[in-house]
Amino acid sequence: MLYIAALLPVFLFLATEGAVTTTQSPVDCHAHAVAVCNKTQLHLNYCGNDGKIYHDVCTLMHALCENHNLRPNYTNPACRVAHVTTTAKPLTPFEQALFSAIEHGIDDRLQKTKELGISSAQAKPIFSVQDHTHKHYVRNPKCWAYDLDLTSISPWNSNLRNRKAGTLISPRHAVWARHYSIATNSTLRFVTRDGTVVDRRVAASRAVNGKGGHGFYGRDIVVGVLDQDVPDTISFAKVMPHQIMKMYPPHDVHLPVLSTDQEEKALVADFFIFNNKSISLRTPGTSSLHHDFYESKISGDSGNPSFFVLHDQLVLLFTFTTGGAGGGTNLLYYHDEINQIMTQLGGGYQLTEIDLGSFLQGNQAVPALVG
Ligand SMILES: *[C@@H]1O[C@H](CO)[C@@H](O)[C@H](O)[C@H]1NC(C)=O
Ligand SMILES: *[C@@H]1O[C@H](CO)[C@@H](O)[C@H](O)[C@H]1NC(C)=O
Ligand SMILES: *[C@@H]1O[C@H](CO)[C@@H](O)[C@H](O)[C@H]1NC(C)=O
Ligand SMILES: *[C@@H]1O[C@H](CO)[C@@H](O)[C@H](O)[C@H]1NC(C)=O
Repeated sequence: MLYIAALLPVFLFLATEGAVTTTQSPVDCHAHAVAVCNKTQLHLNYCGNDGKIYHDVCTLMHALCENHNLRPNYTNPACRVAHVTTTAKPLTPFEQALFSAIEHGIDDRLQKTKELGISSAQAKPIFSVQDHTHKHYVRNPKCWAYDLDLTSISPWNSNLRNRKAGTLISPRHAVWARHYSIATNSTLRFVTRDGTVVDRRVAASRAVNGKGGHGFYGRDIVVGVLDQDVPDTISFAKVMPHQIMKMYPPHDVHLPVLSTDQEEKALVADFFIFNNKSISLRTPGTSSLHHDFYESKISGDSGNPSFFVLHDQLVLLFTFTTGGAGGGTNLLYYHDEINQIMTQLGGGYQLTEIDLGSFLQGNQAVPALVG
């Protein structure tokens, strides 16, 4: 698909908020830009293909109302460089504990890999053998994520082979991208930790936010039901608690996210923000350990999942809609609707939330805003 390479996070963000549509009049467009961008705090430089630099998202959005051909130019080094830091609010004890756990979940493993002298090229592939034709898979013991249970991630399907992915959210249900959807009756393959293949048929599927609407931005999620449960040698991914509406860690907090790509590599990027429907990652600093395990997401990576690693478990955040560092539709925004679809499709399961109770104090509830 073209989308992933062509559309980068800034456009994901704008488009999911409904700011850029060809049907809007310029007046509506500017009014919408004001309404949307005043709610954001994205103090980044954006470079346009018109040679101009836009110093914040509002300026860019207003320019987009006037010039529909405006696109970001990410080859310009001045792009997407944070130039204002918002007044740093001290982290709450909950945020400190949560962020620390998210960091350790991936950073400790990357550090250990480095100490063992394993290069990132050796440590990124999840499998050392992936023979889809002969159903022969061997997990790569040098992969930095080898000790994690990655069996919820599908490496192959009969619809488009190693593309489109598909990630289990229950023993019977998987999610993938709407703009790169997996056809009904396709075989979705999973592989146990010891390499045994578990093939299932996609019996039915349904996208979030119905059939109508415009485009797939902000609703790029399909929930599919399998013809039968996977065995317990295949796991499923949990999700964050549904109470969290917005997660926006300070710029100097580099929360690592594990994503896969079409080659089934375990890649790392920094979490950027989730707010309502949108979620996006950012490119790690070039001198950081995360950067050694970072790759830009390209055409064909769409639908692959991104996770926090918390308590040694995968917590699914979204599947790729856009390229570069990558972004997509925030699964949590559709938490209730995904549960409804799971009920409608049958199978008897709902989403499972990760328990963050150990980071809370006393009777404290999970906060709606994090960061
Ligand atoms: C949006 O922000 C600008 C600049 O901060 C301010 O002048 C304007 O009144 C705000 N508009 C709305 C609708 O909040
Ligand atoms: C993008 O930025 C690079 C580096 O500044 C520049 O050489 C190139 O001409 C720009 N491309 C467009 C389409 O503006
Ligand atoms: C799926 O396969 C069944 C059984 O062969 C068939 O009845 C049905 O039409 C197929 N559905 C689609 C969408 O191809
Ligand atoms: C984001 O979600 C909150 C809570 O549901 C809502 O109050 C707010 O209006 C939403 N913002 C946008 C831009 O949709």
